[in-house]
Amino acid sequence: MQAPSILSPSVSARAKAIRTGAGWAPNESISFIYGFPAPECLPNEAIAGASARALKTHGEWALQYGGDPGLANVLIKKLARDQKIMCTRENLMITAGSSQAIANICELMLDPGDVVLSEAPTFLGTARMMRNLGVEIEPVPLDDDGVRVDQLEASLIRLRTAGKKPKLFYVIPTFQNPTGVTTTLARRQRIVELAHEFDFAILEDDAYHDLRFTEERLPPLYVLDNGVRTFYTGTFSKILAPGLRLGWMVAHPDLIARISALKTEGGASPYSLHTGLEYCGPDGADLDANIARLREIYKRRCELMQDALTEFMPADVGWTKPKGGFFVWLTLPPNIDVTEMIASVRARGVDYLPGNACFFDGSGKNNIRLAFSYAAEDSLAEGIRIIAGEIRARC
Ligand SMILES: Cc1ncc(COP(=O)(O)O)c(C=O)c1O
Repeated sequence: MQAPSILSPSVSARAKAIRTGAGWAPNESISFIYGFPAPECLPNEAIAGASARALKTHGEWALQYGGDPGLANVLIKKLARDQKIMCTRENLMITAGSSQAIANICELMLDPGDVVLSEAPTFLGTARMMRNLGVEIEPVPLDDDGVRVDQLEASLIRLRTAGKKPKLFYVIPTFQNPTGVTTTLARRQRIVELAHEFDFAILEDDAYHDLRFTEERLPPLYVLDNGVRTFYTGTFSKILAPGLRLGWMVAHPDLIARISALKTEGGASPYSLHTGLEYCGPDGADLDANIARLREIYKRRCELMQDALTEFMPADVGWTKPKGGFFVWLTLPPNIDVTEMIASVRARGVDYLPGNACFFDGSGKNNIRLAFSYAAEDSLAEGIRIIAGEIRARC
């Protein structure tokens, strides 16, 4: 179809600079491409019941313009108990998914041309958002222990020598997307020290915090920093249902107030807020039970994928061993271009995310992100066998 004439020349300069992307539906029968929850992890019936109760009990207000019916109180208790984040309604804001929280924070903090530090590779949604904003990205690499704080410090020194001052560091310290790695406690402490020394804000994206496969829980940067210069974001998408579009941010009350003043898009859906609250219950017990169930399911899936990788991959392929979350990150021999290989893999009914989608500069051509969260459990090994076969053919 021809583009509507209004698209050119009337759209904003920002919109002109934006590349349009592909759709979001997993196409192949064994899909490792997106961080979608498994279909069996979505509590359809319980949400149907919660929705019916919300409509019956709260009548108009679930469908009217309006504020939060009390889901914030459930979150406040949960964040205090699990993350040890002490907050009130003054410094917590519920948003339409954590993507909206991240967008709101970027809108508050960033102007085109600003310097932003970001893990690389990183979550492709935020990478795209940053690109669209026209900021200058300073990539910070990762290893199996998370953020390379030595490289972070080297970048900060180099930028300072060049007269540049980064405003924000975007970081996913727990079960990172796309690598699955977790930043150690010592490195978390160092990030906070550097943030104070070099005076930048931290945007801590903790989307996978609850989906841990062990009992180990590291303190969020927000806690280590006493909430002084950290924005903390989280989401119901991975622990309940992404279709509800419910996420949150925690930050200093003054920052939350400024973001509220900037927001004109209506925020989180009242219908979802009411439904979410009915689902969780005032003490969050049903959400806790759901999280316990999901941890078991994703742990098993991760183990199945790890076993299949061990069984089928050639010796010169490496991969991460996450202790939570949705993703495994593969490193292939440098001569293999996964953007070229994907056509043959798709032709065999399997899909993955080429690593370069998660970098800002097109690197990652020999990396693959595999989501073990979505594909049917009994297809995981077959999917890995097929990808491994294509890799072997190119080794
Ligand atoms: C690291 C990370 N942050 C944020 C999001 C956004 O999630 P949502 O907007 O559904 O809360 C995702 C989704 O995949 C993610 O992986």
